[in-house]
Amino acid sequence: MKKMTLLLASVLLSASATVSLAEDISGLDSLRKQGLETQDPAAKLKNYPKDNEKVGLSYIQQPPLVPHSVRGYQVDRNVNKCLSCHSFKNYKKYDATKISTSHFTNRDGTVLSDVSPRRYFCMQCHVPQVKAQPLVENDFKPSGALSD
Ligand code: HEC
Ligand code: HEC
Repeated sequence: MKKMTLLLASVLLSASATVSLAEDISGLDSLRKQGLETQDPAAKLKNYPKDNEKVGLSYIQQPPLVPHSVRGYQVDRNVNKCLSCHSFKNYKKYDATKISTSHFTNRDGTVLSDVSPRRYFCMQCHVPQVKAQPLVENDFKPSGALSD
């Protein structure tokens, strides 16, 4: 193991020694044409509504949008804040929608006894909404069967 670490370290050292650090960047520019040295200030945090009406769906099989704030909700290896309200065990207590049974199926189509790992990180698919100026014009219309 020790030998392996030494070997790895020497490979890494020699690799970094051969990379030239002084790349010539004159003539390059950012997409925003601000030069490579300037940086925009961080955008202001959006004001997500604390609680909202459920948001209608725009297409079949859409992951429903999150109608409440999720600031500070932790989802990691040890805890899943979303499941503390949305799991089958807890949803009644919090009057929350229970997760879909589809969330128990793994990629091989086997139904598991708990949430499938591929559905564990809820905000991969479910995102909260905020009233904001769209970045680009958008004339998307919900699919016919779902529009009012
Ligand atoms: C403190 C409890 C609580 C926590 C924690 C929580 N939710 Fe919710 N959530 C609710 C309740 C209650 C509703 C239902 C709101 C309603 O009926 O208007 C809801 C609604 C939703 C909906 C809409 C469901 C639908 O059918 O339209 C989604 C999606 C959702 N939550 C996702 C999440 C995600 C993702 C997280 C974690 C980041 C999370 N929630 C954490 C209580 C919670
Ligand atoms: C890979 C994408 C994906 C992930 C990750 C995911 N969901 Fe979903 N979710 C969906 C889709 C798509 C639907 C709607 C279709 C369905 O029911 O499967 C849905 C439906 C739901 C619903 C509505 C169920 C109903 O009866 O209307 C809730 C609540 C929900 N998800 C909560 C969660 C929570 C909590 C997590 C994290 C533990 C999570 N989801 C992770 C895609 C996802």
